[in-house]
Amino acid sequence: MKQQDLEIRPLASAIGAEILGVDLAKPLGNEAWDQISQAFRDHLVIFFRDQELTPEQHITFARRFGELEPYPFVNGIDGYPELIDIVKMPSEVRNFGAGWHADMSFREEPPLGAVLHAIEVPPVGGDTMFCNMYLAYETLSDGMKLLVETLAGVHDSFEPADHSQNFKGMSLMGKEGATRQVTRHPLVKTHPVTGRKSLFISPDYCFAIDGMTDRESRMLLDYLEEHATRHEFCCRFRWQPGSIAVWDNRCAMHNALNDDLAAHAGGEGFKRVMRRATIRR
Ligand code: SIN
Repeated sequence: MKQQDLEIRPLASAIGAEILGVDLAKPLGNEAWDQISQAFRDHLVIFFRDQELTPEQHITFARRFGELEPYPFVNGIDGYPELIDIVKMPSEVRNFGAGWHADMSFREEPPLGAVLHAIEVPPVGGDTMFCNMYLAYETLSDGMKLLVETLAGVHDSFEPADHSQNFKGMSLMGKEGATRQVTRHPLVKTHPVTGRKSLFISPDYCFAIDGMTDRESRMLLDYLEEHATRHEFCCRFRWQPGSIAVWDNRCAMHNALNDDLAAHAGGEGFKRVMRRATIRR
């Protein structure tokens, strides 16, 4: 018997769709999974609302996309090394995941994606933006395409221990657990499933281009970031408790907005708690 179709509701022309009519706490039938994975390929990031998931259910759903991996610099939650809690405390002025990036691009094989579940969110603010890196590549001029096709970016995790002073609500590894990772990636990559080319920059981690001076690297990377994050290539997601986002890290970047103005003014702002599973491949 055919299951009822899920409703796929695009959030913006370029990227992002909400999927309605599914309870992710229950086992997913093949038809529901086919629709979800097709929406994931078509929209690059998919969202669900009002999902109550235990850690086991979160892991089970994330494993439909691929095998999971622990986050290199953050300890997993008790009993579940595959899940980390991303926490911003009310007075903190920095938030984990702020700035445009592809997750862990300093790895030789950056993850396929992630499944992020909102546990506690502010009444307003703390949204996340996503941008479509296929479009970023496809809309470059022919001349710029020729240039970027020949280049590789240098991606650097920097000294993870330096970050352990930030993010007080999170369980970050200190010097013992985490070592600096640096790697090079072509600025243009081909998606292993769709075969489409996309631009691969990750401004939080990539500050240099192989064979270029600092100034040349900076000028080109600044231009490419500005181009890739044009409004028409983006969507912005407003979280509620129980919302879920699943993004394709190979062809989309994201940016957890650092917009807690009360905390920036020195007062008490918002607490935000998100739980994330990282999909290796
Ligand atoms: C992340 O980069 O994984 C964090 C995204 C968010 O908290 O919205």
